[in-house]
Amino acid sequence: MKTKKIKIAVLVSGGGTNLQALIDAQKSGILQSGKIALVLSNKADAFALQRAADAGIPTATVLKSVCLSQEQFEDELIKKIEEAGAEMIVLAGFMAILSKKFTAHFERRILNVHPSLIPSFCGEGFYGLRVHKAALEKGVKVTGATVHFVNEIPDGGEIILQKAVTVRDNDTPETLQKRVMRQAEWKILPAATEKVAAALLEAKNH
Ligand code: GAR
Repeated sequence: MKTKKIKIAVLVSGGGTNLQALIDAQKSGILQSGKIALVLSNKADAFALQRAADAGIPTATVLKSVCLSQEQFEDELIKKIEEAGAEMIVLAGFMAILSKKFTAHFERRILNVHPSLIPSFCGEGFYGLRVHKAALEKGVKVTGATVHFVNEIPDGGEIILQKAVTVRDNDTPETLQKRVMRQAEWKILPAATEKVAAALLEAKNH
């Protein structure tokens, strides 16, 4: 029997604008080979959970603070992901480091969106607004966003898509973050998700 769609778990920690871009892409048909089956958060108050609920998508939360170890935290995540039948994972503003044990479990099935042109301004300690602050401090004239596969090296996996964004003279980390999201992240994350889901679907059906 041919599988119709790849089930996707989206892992979030915050506002969830990238999750929203995926939800919108699902509605518009940009994302058609995959379907968001679960939104999983490591923060109980993440607004992303509300966005998922509004779209009728099942949600779950795994708090690291109630887990005894990183291993238990990851085991809980894997349990929820597998219970939902998800075969692909998108990290959409998920602010927790994942070990090799986790990334190897879903090899070439985890995507992450990062708000810079990797290999600039990436790796441990570079997340959220800090990335844009570092880019402005360096004085780069062009920045952007990257979607890449996730392996055990933070922001070190194979690059899937990138998009450049021009820095303006009067940018603050906040204005730059917004423009990078709008012009790059919200476009390349749905596109890369469709690309990988389509390839997984093709491999499954043949
Ligand atoms: C996004 O800009 C995303 O690229 C970044 O966090 C933000 C989450 O926003 N991720 C990282 O910095 C990962 N290293 P969102 O919750 O509105 O999607």
